[in-house]
Amino acid sequence: MPTTPHRPDRPRRPKPAEFELLKHLARAGGEGRPAAWSSMEVGKLLGVSQQAADRYLRNLATEGKISRSLGGRKQRLELLPAGREELRREYGELRRLFEGPARLAFAGTVASGLGEGRYYLSRPGYLVQFAERLGYTPYPGTLNLKLSASDLTLAASTKSWRGIRIDGFSASGRTFGGASCHAAHLNGRPAHLIMPDRTHHTESVEFIAPEFLRGALGVSDGDRVDVVLEEAETSA
Ligand code: CDP
Repeated sequence: MPTTPHRPDRPRRPKPAEFELLKHLARAGGEGRPAAWSSMEVGKLLGVSQQAADRYLRNLATEGKISRSLGGRKQRLELLPAGREELRREYGELRRLFEGPARLAFAGTVASGLGEGRYYLSRPGYLVQFAERLGYTPYPGTLNLKLSASDLTLAASTKSWRGIRIDGFSASGRTFGGASCHAAHLNGRPAHLIMPDRTHHTESVEFIAPEFLRGALGVSDGDRVDVVLEEAETSA
């Protein structure tokens, strides 16, 4: 049977037994709480041989989904953020299967940032992707909306949504991170929530749109804006 060549730009999906292993590690405590299991014990948990368990552990460790520190008979196994993302993707698929595409509504207040949005939104590496995947060239900048702690948690649940991918890239000797976009309406006007893959702790979320939203919505710092987010029906 011909085998499909592995495409480096498309990450390998874990095998069912590897998913099971990630789930076991999440149940054992997840990030920061390593489990001390020998490969034999992992084999028993998964109902496979020690050799197979060892192979699964090696695969997941190589891909940065778990960390594995060897030493003695047991080994310390810990779920890493990339492993948790794998579980989140699976959770999203099951959620869509049972509940259909998600929808969220909340409100935020307009806030000013550090003026970095304009710089990032002007990078050609992003612009070509926006034009192709969102169907428009965004106004150069992001509108920041400050959210309550509970609405920030709501907005973070979009991590399990099917979104429009914007890939990271390198240019001028530095790297620009990837992000996921989700269709949004701000006071009824179309926009996209943009969730960077790498975020620092923040109290706000950012939106991009074809138009200058402050002008179109007639809002300035401190004004309330109603947000509706809708998960894509099909993958981009
Ligand atoms: O860092 P900050 O969000 O303040 O600035 P920026 O991202 O460089 O965006 C420049 C300005 O345009 C800010 O006042 C944003 O709130 C605003 N903006 C907007 O009104 N509509 C957009 N679609 C994008 C940015």
